[in-house]
Amino acid sequence: SAAEKGGHDYFMLKEIEEQPEALENTLRGHFSDGRIVLDELRLTEQDLRDVDKVFVVACGTAYHAGLVAKYAIEHWCRIPVEVELASEFRYRDPVLGRDTLVVAISQSGETADTLEAVRHARTQRARVLAICNTNGAQIPRESDAVLYTHAGPEIGVAATKTFLAQIAANYLVGLALAQARGTKYADEVAREHAELAAMPDAVRQALTTVDQVRQLGQELADSKAVLFLGRHVGYPVALEGALKLKELAYMHAEGFAAGELKHGPIALIEEGLPVVVVMPSPTGRALLHAKLVSNIREIQARGARTIVIAEEGDEAVRPFADELITVPAVPTLLQPLVSTVPLQVLAAEIARARGYDVDKPRNLAKSVTVE
Ligand code: G6P
Repeated sequence: SAAEKGGHDYFMLKEIEEQPEALENTLRGHFSDGRIVLDELRLTEQDLRDVDKVFVVACGTAYHAGLVAKYAIEHWCRIPVEVELASEFRYRDPVLGRDTLVVAISQSGETADTLEAVRHARTQRARVLAICNTNGAQIPRESDAVLYTHAGPEIGVAATKTFLAQIAANYLVGLALAQARGTKYADEVAREHAELAAMPDAVRQALTTVDQVRQLGQELADSKAVLFLGRHVGYPVALEGALKLKELAYMHAEGFAAGELKHGPIALIEEGLPVVVVMPSPTGRALLHAKLVSNIREIQARGARTIVIAEEGDEAVRPFADELITVPAVPTLLQPLVSTVPLQVLAAEIARARGYDVDKPRNLAKSVTVE
């Protein structure tokens, strides 16, 4: 009923709007006396210091959360992080040992490939931490430890609020590792945590774009395809934006690292093709920002319709944006938490405009318990 959906046409929009609370609930209780508190890890400080490699394994949207986490964990902890699709990891013979930390991300905790990846990692004596949204599910039961995201139940088949919660949970793990290992960020976990704790409000602000993006979604409903470009943490956001559009609107959508534009994707640009660009901060990442502005000019000159997700106050990109969607200025590593929001709305609204069931897309299941 409409009441269950919080007055919305579909659950997914309600769940998109619940993202600030999903973040708050996931972060709650994990910071005290200037320190990250993650007793769930069930590893001693010495164990955390001994970790020499992190593998993140996941499927779908959870995999994209892992891709985002890699940027933060490597930066804060100086530990190599590999992010791998669970279905590839388990058949590949990855190098694992006692000092490997495997982080298995799964909203449902029941995804068959992720579960098999967990089992494989444990036979290799790696330590497995599940990041999961469902209490007592199989993946946490078979892992050494579990950190729950507290996004609340997610009805829409396509993940939204659990994605943001997964990123936040991974960031807590990264900060806990940095703290235990005494990297140069160990003294800054309080500041990093405060920035994370400010994100629910930033996401609330990002949600003010909903009406603008819904309008845009209606305009784009007849497009044949949409491309998504990003760099740094904006790259996994581009992948997630494209995945959402495929899942919900059954539209051909591809996400690319903007630096790869000249190595192929630019050949796809034709008159009127919508291209969504996730901009880095003009101040925080000035160099990458300048490179992306030049990419946008190139594709616009070839006829693309440019849809630009940019930090508020980004005037340099405005002249090249056929549609400018602004999100609040936040530290670069946290940007996916705000820039993903309009992409979720865009996919849902294009799907709705095309007459599809946003909450139950064809051929997809909320949890994929078979290979
Ligand atoms: C399905 C869902 C996706 C989800 C993926 C992984 O494909 O439709 O939204 O990202 O499974 O699910 P998990 O429960 O493991 O996070």
